[in-house]
Amino acid sequence: ERVAVLGLPMDLGAGRRGVDMGPSALRYARLLEELEALGLAVEDLGDVRVPLAETLRKRKGPYLEEIRQAALELRDRLRGLEGVFPIVLGGDHSLSMGSVSGVARGRIGVIWVDAHADFNTPETSPSGNIHGMPLAVLCGLGHPRLTEAFQAVDPKDVVLIGVRSLDPGEKRLLKEMGVRVYTMHEVDRLGMARIAEETLAYLEGLPLHVSLDADVLDPALAPGVGTPVPGGLTYREAHLLMEVLAHSGRVQSLDLVEVNPILDEKNRTAEMMVGLALSLLGKRIL
Ligand code: ARG
Ligand code: MN
Ligand code: MN
Ligand code: MN
Repeated sequence: ERVAVLGLPMDLGAGRRGVDMGPSALRYARLLEELEALGLAVEDLGDVRVPLAETLRKRKGPYLEEIRQAALELRDRLRGLEGVFPIVLGGDHSLSMGSVSGVARGRIGVIWVDAHADFNTPETSPSGNIHGMPLAVLCGLGHPRLTEAFQAVDPKDVVLIGVRSLDPGEKRLLKEMGVRVYTMHEVDRLGMARIAEETLAYLEGLPLHVSLDADVLDPALAPGVGTPVPGGLTYREAHLLMEVLAHSGRVQSLDLVEVNPILDEKNRTAEMMVGLALSLLGKRIL
């Protein structure tokens, strides 16, 4: 199997600086070498160009046009790929507007693994940060400049896992749109094995995209994130999810987002994310 790695060093959608260094941190944590050690043919396609936040300082955010442009570029790069498994390195989560719309060839199931739902619209968002909106945009909700470019999934084909921080308007929209949500409450009650199996059954027959936000992990394991929330996934819960999804053979693309090296401890958050990518791409314990 062939894997293509593509970075998007952007922090314009986040409220704090630093996730623009995520792609470097993930590469430094030996993502490519470890994938090769699994026997995969890996190609690094480099980074999508993004304007540096410092060059935009005179304007106030939320940098909607710049984010749109970078996500469009990502979308079009991914549309040009054929027969490879793309791994997109972020960068803040707004890039997933481009990754999901870029990998979708018709109907696709999206597994959004995140402490948050990223299901805000400009009306419901308390922060105005665009990284809190990409899943809503992909489902057709939000700013028309974004939805017209990136709407790509049916809300019924989305599963959220690991959620524990929702804004009031988001809760309402998730219910209205019929998105399946496994919060940490369900992770505790049902266990990750059952959640992973149910997710695969629910999205039966669809090719799958996994969007992995580092803040889904417990902040004790992954301190290098801008929006940490207590009570996250354990090491084994996260790996088990990746292992079961890998076993299905249906996952075709992956985002690794929201790694913030400025807030991290010796790159351990990037290392965790690399380990999870390896499990998703078939690394087995035995
Ligand atoms: N719900 C909050 C907001 O809209 C936090 C979003 C965090 N998103 C993320 N990709 N880390 O601002
Ligand atoms: Mn997110
Ligand atoms: Mn998050
Ligand atoms: Mn985050």
